[in-house]
Amino acid sequence: MKLLHLDSSALGTDSVTRELTAAVVGQWRDSRPGLAVDYLDLDRTPIPHLSGRSLAKADAAAADADERVLQQFLDADVIVVGAPMYNFGIPSTLKAWIDRIAIRGRTFQYSENGPQGLAGGKRVIIASGRGGAYGDASPADFQETYLRQVFGFLGVTDIQMVRAEGVGMSPQHRAEALAVAHASIARPMPLAA
Ligand SMILES: Cc1cc2nc3c(=O)[nH]c(=O)nc-3n(C[C@H](O)[C@H](O)[C@H](O)COP(=O)(O)O)c2cc1C
Repeated sequence: MKLLHLDSSALGTDSVTRELTAAVVGQWRDSRPGLAVDYLDLDRTPIPHLSGRSLAKADAAAADADERVLQQFLDADVIVVGAPMYNFGIPSTLKAWIDRIAIRGRTFQYSENGPQGLAGGKRVIIASGRGGAYGDASPADFQETYLRQVFGFLGVTDIQMVRAEGVGMSPQHRAEALAVAHASIARPMPLAA
C-alpha cells in the first residue's frame, strides 16, 4: 500500500496544515506496518508553473519530472494533502502539482456521456487550514470546494476533510480549531486478520 503525503504551507513549523498532515500520516503508519510513504514538500521544492514549454514537453528532463509526479499520484492508494487557504483559494505551489496530475487520457477523459475520472479507488484526505471561518458552504471558499471538484473530476469519491479554521482570529481560536481538527481525523480501518 502506498501513501503520498503533500505539504504546501509556506509557514514552516508554524503551519497548521503541516501539523495535521503529519498526524494523519502518523496514524496510517501506525496502522499499516510496511506502508510506503512518498513525501512532497511543494513549498521547499516547488514544481514549476505550468507553461507552454512544459505542455509542449520542450525540455526532456522537465517532461520526465512531470511524468514522475503524475505516476506517483497514480500509484498512491492514499493521498494526504496539506491545503492552506491562500486568498480564498489554494497555494499556487499546490496548484502547480494539480496541473501535473490532471491530464486528459491519464486521469480523466471525455466520453459521450461527458467527463469521466480515471483515477478512482483512492482515498484523499485534505488537511484544510483557514485564517477565517467559512463552514461548509461559503461563497468565498475556493479552496475546499476547488479541491473536492478537482479530485472528484479525476474520479476520486472517497474525500475526507480535516479542517482547522478561524486559526487567525486569536490564539485561543487556533488552539480550539486544532483540537477539533485532530479529533476529526478518522482512524484508518484496521486490516482484516
Ligand atoms: C499568503 C496568505 C494568504 C492567506 N489568505 C487567507 C484567506 O484568503 N482567507 C483566510 O481565511 N485565511 C487566509 N490566510 C490564513 C491562512 O489560511 C491560515 O494561516 C492557515 O492556517 C494556513 O495554513 P498553514 O498554517 O498550514 O499555513 C492566508 C495566509 C497567508 C500566508
